[in-house]
Amino acid sequence: MKTIVQKIREGEDLSIALAAAASVIKRGGLVAFPTETVYGLGADALQEEAARRIYAAKGRPSDNPLIVHISSFSDLFVLAEKIPPMARTLAQAFWPGPLTMIFEKKPIVPDSTTGGLPTVAVRMPSHAVARELIQLSGCYIAAPSANTSGRPSPTTAQHVIEDLDGKIDMILDAGPVDIGLESTVVDVTGQIPVILRPGFVTAEMIQEAAGEVQLDPALLQETPAQVLRPKAPGMKYRHYAPRGSLFVVKGEKDAVCDLIRRRTARACAEGKRVGILASLETADRYPEGMVRTIGSREDEASIARGLFAALREFDHLQADLIFAEDVPEGGLGMAIRNRLLKAAGYQILKAGEDTEGKNVDETL
Ligand code: TXA
Ligand code: MG
Repeated sequence: MKTIVQKIREGEDLSIALAAAASVIKRGGLVAFPTETVYGLGADALQEEAARRIYAAKGRPSDNPLIVHISSFSDLFVLAEKIPPMARTLAQAFWPGPLTMIFEKKPIVPDSTTGGLPTVAVRMPSHAVARELIQLSGCYIAAPSANTSGRPSPTTAQHVIEDLDGKIDMILDAGPVDIGLESTVVDVTGQIPVILRPGFVTAEMIQEAAGEVQLDPALLQETPAQVLRPKAPGMKYRHYAPRGSLFVVKGEKDAVCDLIRRRTARACAEGKRVGILASLETADRYPEGMVRTIGSREDEASIARGLFAALREFDHLQADLIFAEDVPEGGLGMAIRNRLLKAAGYQILKAGEDTEGKNVDETL
């Protein structure tokens, strides 16, 4: 299949540029489009066959449900069985925006969209292109991140082309996204909102809006998700992984830099290609290795925005080994760390301790 790449320029009349994309969606095809979080791979959520095509293009396990994107709050009544007051409160606070809520589903939503679950994930994106596409198509658009399953989520159209060229009908290119991490997924089917996937809308923000919040306990594990099974099926899979072996280095800043410097020197001496994911504040402490800075420790949003692109860049640089500095805790730090740990397959080095992490092969 030939994939059409359609550039969307600022100031242009979106409806003209998007008309072709909307008709692809209507007839059951696949369109990658920008949202404020990451690029999504869209199809009509109510066409069983269309949703199935998404899984085939991504190579995605069929038990991993899709998020349905809507453009107006009233769309929710078509898809969700019950809309509890806390969901209205959260929608008021964060929609349109990077928040996904899980509801009991109406029978109209096919099993292929929900991975066979009795619940449906719904999000109202804020990106103008996403909103216009939903409206013009007259559909509710099921869209996972537009990457090959297991790879870092795409934050530019170029990333989508890398993974899905020739496998989908169309890509709408509106430049790099704003946030860079996927939406926060919150289960609102119980008494208290439960975060299943951390994202740009933080636990603190949900607590403030809804009065209460819980975390899926599986999120706090620093081991692969075999001990406690996460409630969002997608959270149990290896994800975001670069091709090289990635280690997250935890600890106090100076100790982290020391450890990375030592390990990098050792690996370079063995002829390995080493990548280092550093912050603006620490980048010049590394004399060896391919150093990439994604943002400032003082500005978590800048780290979120650059993380996935940096992980993909290490693939282009053919890094065998990558060391990533851990990020500060709290706020957006939780979402960034969650993605980093998943990308690393939970390989952690602890700086400044006698043992440098339990999960680690000391011979590296
Ligand atoms: O920001 C985002 O959310 C992006 C953009 C495109 O909107 N989409 C996205 O979709 O990240 P995806 O498919 O890559 O991730 C959806 C996550 C998965 O972890 C999935 O398991 C979970 O949401 N999920 C979807 N439906 C669910 C449900 N009914 N119950 C529990 N978890 C669900
Ligand atoms: Mg994804």
